[in-house]
Amino acid sequence: MESAHAHRKDEHLAITEANIRKGGLNTNFNDLRIIHHGLPEINVADTDISVALPDFKLPVPFYIEAMTGGSLRTGQINAQLAKVAKETQLAMAVGSQSITLKDKSSYESFEVVRKLNPDGFILANLGAGKSAQDAQFAVDLINANALEIHINAAQEIVMPEGDRDFMWLDNIASIVNSVNVPIIVKEVGFGISQTTLNKLAAIGVKYVNVGGRGGTNFAAIENQRNHKTNYDFMLDWGQTTLESLIEGQLSPTDITLFATGGINNPLDILKSQILGAKMTGVAGHFLHTLLSKKEHGLIDEILTWQTQLHELYALVGARNQTELTQIEYILSPQLANYQQQRIIK
Ligand SMILES: Cc1cc2nc3c(=O)[nH]c(=O)nc-3n(C[C@H](O)[C@H](O)[C@H](O)COP(=O)(O)O)c2cc1C
Repeated sequence: MESAHAHRKDEHLAITEANIRKGGLNTNFNDLRIIHHGLPEINVADTDISVALPDFKLPVPFYIEAMTGGSLRTGQINAQLAKVAKETQLAMAVGSQSITLKDKSSYESFEVVRKLNPDGFILANLGAGKSAQDAQFAVDLINANALEIHINAAQEIVMPEGDRDFMWLDNIASIVNSVNVPIIVKEVGFGISQTTLNKLAAIGVKYVNVGGRGGTNFAAIENQRNHKTNYDFMLDWGQTTLESLIEGQLSPTDITLFATGGINNPLDILKSQILGAKMTGVAGHFLHTLLSKKEHGLIDEILTWQTQLHELYALVGARNQTELTQIEYILSPQLANYQQQRIIK
């Protein structure tokens, strides 16, 4: 008999997939349009999509974002994702490892990711309320190259069994100061603000994944799981991924930004990069491809995305990621208005 925690991970998976099948992801990437220039003067073969980050270099600027582990079913999915990551040279994050802090039988569902991809770039994942010792344990369990610390206050509020204590900053500081791999603080789909970035920069956080609204919606998922209390009014809570990246542009910090939330194709990746995301994570969409088209279908899709990203770089005349920040674009009236109102004097 699996624990309630393991059951929750299975429910997240099932509800995400059902929601995607019902209506697809409601993304907001149309709020940014790239200006087309007809003479790019560059060949696709001369583009380089690799990413140089302050602590590591990666061949592909997108990755499999944190989803699973903890139950038998999600362990099987982790194994499939690990094989895909290995075949496609993608980095991969595992889902929250908090279950491993209380249930040894869950180890295998995470360890399998390292076993099947010994040389891959793997990110551990834990909530912001856990201790530095727990965080180091999560890293060591899978010999991770980096650690994601998720901040998910809005999800906890809607979650039937959710936490109500959000004193996280000191805790994140001690994790940053003592864990021996780079730390990425990550929202889970409610976006980021300049204030949050400032607070994180002040405690020495170097990487933040803005995790914006527009993709997998944990307010909706937890509301569907919550049979006691209705939180319908929370479904639009938070900043979209593009709004969050604008928050990043407006913030004085030099935090390296990643993006997730509603990334469904290589153009979404390009748009995120243009607004400053160095890496982009994809969760719900890749899960859907895996469940509907199996491992080989996901491998095909990821390799196609890599080719298409080279093509898009050439189309906008960028040789590499650094040159993407010079691309011209316009924002929808709504997003331009957001940007205007968020200039904090
Ligand atoms: C089934 C499922 C489980 C998830 N579990 C976690 C988790 O344990 N830890 C975490 O940081 N994020 C988790 N996420 C959030 C994703 O990593 C990602 O931030 C979010 O889904 C937005 O990306 P997307 O729109 O591409 O799905 C989960 C997402 C899904 C779909």
